[in-house]
Amino acid sequence: ARSESARLRAGRPFGTNVTARPGRNLRPIRPRVRATRGSHVPDTITITDDRTGKTVTVPIEGGVFPSSALRELDSSLYCYDPAYLSTASCKSSITYLDGDAGVLRYGGYPIEQLAEHSTYLEVAYLLLNGELPTKEQLDVWVNDVTHHTFIHENMRKRFVDGFHYDAHPMGMFTSAVAALGTFYEGAKDIDDPTQRNRQILRLIAKAPTIAAMCHRFSVGLPFNQPNNDLSYPANFLNMMWKIGDYEVDPVLERAMEILFILHADHEQNCGTTAMRVIGSSHADPYSSAAGASAALYGPLHGGANEAVVRMLTEIGSIDNVPAFVESVKSGEGRLMGFGHRVYKNYDPRATIIKNAAYDVFEVTGKNPLLDIALRLEDAALSDPYFVDRKLYPNVDFYSGLIYQAMGFPVEMFTVLFAIPRMSGWLAHWQELLNDPAQKFSRPRQG
Ligand code: CMC
Repeated sequence: ARSESARLRAGRPFGTNVTARPGRNLRPIRPRVRATRGSHVPDTITITDDRTGKTVTVPIEGGVFPSSALRELDSSLYCYDPAYLSTASCKSSITYLDGDAGVLRYGGYPIEQLAEHSTYLEVAYLLLNGELPTKEQLDVWVNDVTHHTFIHENMRKRFVDGFHYDAHPMGMFTSAVAALGTFYEGAKDIDDPTQRNRQILRLIAKAPTIAAMCHRFSVGLPFNQPNNDLSYPANFLNMMWKIGDYEVDPVLERAMEILFILHADHEQNCGTTAMRVIGSSHADPYSSAAGASAALYGPLHGGANEAVVRMLTEIGSIDNVPAFVESVKSGEGRLMGFGHRVYKNYDPRATIIKNAAYDVFEVTGKNPLLDIALRLEDAALSDPYFVDRKLYPNVDFYSGLIYQAMGFPVEMFTVLFAIPRMSGWLAHWQELLNDPAQKFSRPRQG
């Protein structure tokens, strides 16, 4: 096993060592307001309605201009923008993403630094509060989350036990998140900051409990209660796997922590947009998070890591990689785990996950699909079809391999994405409710 791990390590580009957390040196990078060429060039855009000759000039700030300018020209004029390819629907300071440069920051902190030095709960605090917690703030936050991990007994006995024996865990998770809201009287008091914070705490604390419960139901094992002596990721792993005297491996605990950090937020993706749209109707946060979770379930979004493992399994051998690549190029399906609406470069999360995978494989043994994945990545990155379209590995390309090596069934992969994304969804929900520019979402049709 040792020589195998040495061989694996030799191939890693740089270390995100899941066991070592050296001295923290975290510094936020605040994005500068983008200057437009020289000072003589105005930061404005002028639009002319050729039907009437009317003109409107509006400012461009941070690369966007207010599309309400169109209605100044004609009150019944709208942008036609299927799938919001050219639309910025909000201003947000939670996450910064530069898809061309492959940069991702939460609250100004580069994702690489957070993955190296932070815990998931610190990151959740950062997303919700805009700054990393002090030691005192973190102690209170961790204590609060840790003491809200239990769920009402009826959730398991009456609700989860009512699912068909082969229900998909992500369908169960999504429904359970919505159902959870019915247990809390204050859930609908979204204007009351105390109630809001209470629901945020509950959703973040209980997401792993619900997730583990769905898995244990799927495999017919008794549910493990949360253990408040354990960290957030260790508690989750313990609820998932504990039979007899199971103990959480610290390397796997740290790997889970890193995976949770990397999946915590990703600005205005499909699930987060669903969260904001539902939240804009002033629905309670449980219903909004259930909607976001349903969006995440799709194979083009959070379901992609499940699709990647199925794809690699189907390819079966590195010898079949060239034929598979040709089939993708001829339009017979997509290379799952490749391509992204925003990243036109290597997804920085994929780099971190690929590195973390080597540490996990030292404990679990190498996932045999790794060699196929590496060969596939090499083949795609040297093929003009993928290069010209700027298709690079995304977060899902390697995450499934780690999850599988850790023993998670493929059906749980999207649930593993949803647990940490809960904090991102809630941070956006909170930002939306506090933003005076936001209103009830209601687009038009063309
Ligand atoms: N394999 C093969 N070709 C692809 C792929 C792919 N994975 N992704 C895009 N293309 C091609 C596509 O066929 C099109 O080619 P052409 O210009 O010849 O018609 C071109 O690239 C542009 O594709 P698009 O569909 O317009 O791009 P999009 O921004 O709408 O799609 C995407 C983004 C993520 C849906 C897509 O890349 C995809 O389906 N990837 C596979 C699924 C996947 O890995 N999803 C996880 C996304 S990251 C996690 C998350 O956000 O949840």
